[in-house]
Amino acid sequence: MSKRIFAVANRKGGVGKTTTAITVAHGLAQKIADSGGRVLLIDFDPQGNVATSLKLELRKRDLADLLLDRAEFRDCVISADRADEGFPRPNLFVLPSNDTLAEAKGELMIKSAIGGRKATPIENVLNEKLGFVRDLFNYVVIDCPPTLDVFSDSVYRLADEAIVPVKTDFLGEVGTARHTNDILDAQSYGIDIQINCILPTFYDKRLTIARSVLEALRTHYGKATVATPIPRSTVFEQAPAVEGQTIFEYRPNSAAAKAYQELIDRIHST
Ligand SMILES: Nc1ncnc2c1ncn2[C@@H]1O[C@H](COP(=O)(O)OP(=O)(O)OP(=O)(O)O)[C@@H](O)[C@H]1O
Ligand SMILES: [Mg+2]
Repeated sequence: MSKRIFAVANRKGGVGKTTTAITVAHGLAQKIADSGGRVLLIDFDPQGNVATSLKLELRKRDLADLLLDRAEFRDCVISADRADEGFPRPNLFVLPSNDTLAEAKGELMIKSAIGGRKATPIENVLNEKLGFVRDLFNYVVIDCPPTLDVFSDSVYRLADEAIVPVKTDFLGEVGTARHTNDILDAQSYGIDIQINCILPTFYDKRLTIARSVLEALRTHYGKATVATPIPRSTVFEQAPAVEGQTIFEYRPNSAAAKAYQELIDRIHST
């Protein structure tokens, strides 16, 4: 089975990055469960929403400790399996974060700036500290914060492909490369990251604006790059709030679940 690392990224806040990262990670985990494959979901956002959304019990250590060499990976990673509560996710794992990640990022920046030749350059930090996950998991999904700042290149060096959710409620930026600017920049100086897809989110086909944005995205990025839109639906807020479920657990037959399943099939089949 191929080993792939995805970054779910867009500089804009509230476009569905965390929802997409969680849903795609769980969907891929379900897809490869029978063949013994494993998926890791990395929370790279100090808001720390991934573990809370899945209602996972946190341990003392997390991604910040790993990045600062204060803990081993095995002491930071948690299982997302909640079979006792009716949510079996035997092959899904989470590397959680909380607000200490913001401090850790600051510390890493200082270290790389003043550390001289021995220090890891900031753009290599994640590869150095997390590169080994490629050997342990079939799929890795990184939930990025809206502001990646100096860590953009570090994330794009670690990841193979980007999934870029774009909210379909504002036409203004579609003609610009705003959603993908960082990624195009990274590519321009040789970082090997591909755009897996632009994922239209919060899509309401009854609204002219939503249809116009979808059309404009297809024109700008090309039809093949734009995935099937994810509908705007209240189930996305309800699922984590009701027992920390994913959409596949909460409403597996909803249009919302079906749209994400299409994305997962698309990812898995290519
Ligand atoms: N397709 C959708 N339809 C309706 N609500 C959605 C949809 N996708 C996500 N949401 C809801 O919108 C809110 C923001 O989503 P999410 O947290 O996934 O965005 P984000 O891009 O990760 O935000 P941030 O930039 O703050 O990290 C959440 O309450 C989520 O439940
Ligand atoms: Mg988020």
